[in-house]
Amino acid sequence: MAPKIIAVCNTKGGTGKTTVAVQIAIARLRQGKKVWFVDGDRQQTGAMAMTMRLNHRGRRRIPFATYPDGKSLQFNVRNMAEQFDTVVIDVGGFDATTMRAAMMICDVLLIPFQPRSFDSWALSKMDSLLEDVMSLRGSFPVYAMINCADPNGVDNKEAEEALNDFSTMKFLPCAFGRRKAFSTSAGYGLNVEEIKVRDQKALNELSALMIAIFGEPLKGKKDENVDSENTEN
Ligand SMILES: Nc1ncnc2c1ncn2[C@@H]1O[C@H](COP(=O)(O)OP(=O)(O)OP(=O)(O)O)[C@@H](O)[C@H]1O
Ligand SMILES: [Mg+2]
Repeated sequence: MAPKIIAVCNTKGGTGKTTVAVQIAIARLRQGKKVWFVDGDRQQTGAMAMTMRLNHRGRRRIPFATYPDGKSLQFNVRNMAEQFDTVVIDVGGFDATTMRAAMMICDVLLIPFQPRSFDSWALSKMDSLLEDVMSLRGSFPVYAMINCADPNGVDNKEAEEALNDFSTMKFLPCAFGRRKAFSTSAGYGLNVEEIKVRDQKALNELSALMIAIFGEPLKGKKDENVDSENTEN
């Protein structure tokens, strides 16, 4: 069965958590699922993206909520999750209470990290946090994926090898390249399926991630009867 609650976390800031969370949430919506987007980051960039989405006439919207602390996030997600097929939780880039709460309640945890700024300290911090959490709730699937992948792949190989040191997380070979399509679309509250100039590599990468997490590729349908977006790609 496909997981319901997906948390996107990394104690390191700026690794692409919000970008990945927005891409996944919209892809899931476009697979015909009922999606809820939960933003546990005080910066609320994920909620801002979902607010931007409200401006696109004809687009299906995603209900969203923001929670500033772990207690309220955990309570509300536990109580509301049954109303949705998929809940995507985006949390801030530091060891916030919302991150711990997300780790406690998720079915799958996704850790985007960047090979260039590859920082084993951040991953070992995640590893020890996850050891704590797993001692409380038992083991659960945790996947680390490369975001903003290097085109020549050298850093990627190193990052993959470094990940073998950590027992709590598995390397997911579904990298996102550094592509304008990812950043531009997410900034507009859209995903790479919904922008005018489609980037096939970005589409393939998102589809591979959706298969790895949910067992289902992108729908691949073109949109009809929606506003055309001025998202220069
Ligand atoms: N695959 C990508 N290709 C191009 N740009 C990207 C990609 N992923 C993220 N970015 C850009 O990198 C920056 C940081 O991304 P994002 O805000 O998603 O990171 P974050 O981990 O959520 O940050 P924070 O820790 O502040 O919450 C943004 O400007 C975003 O547009
Ligand atoms: Mg973010």
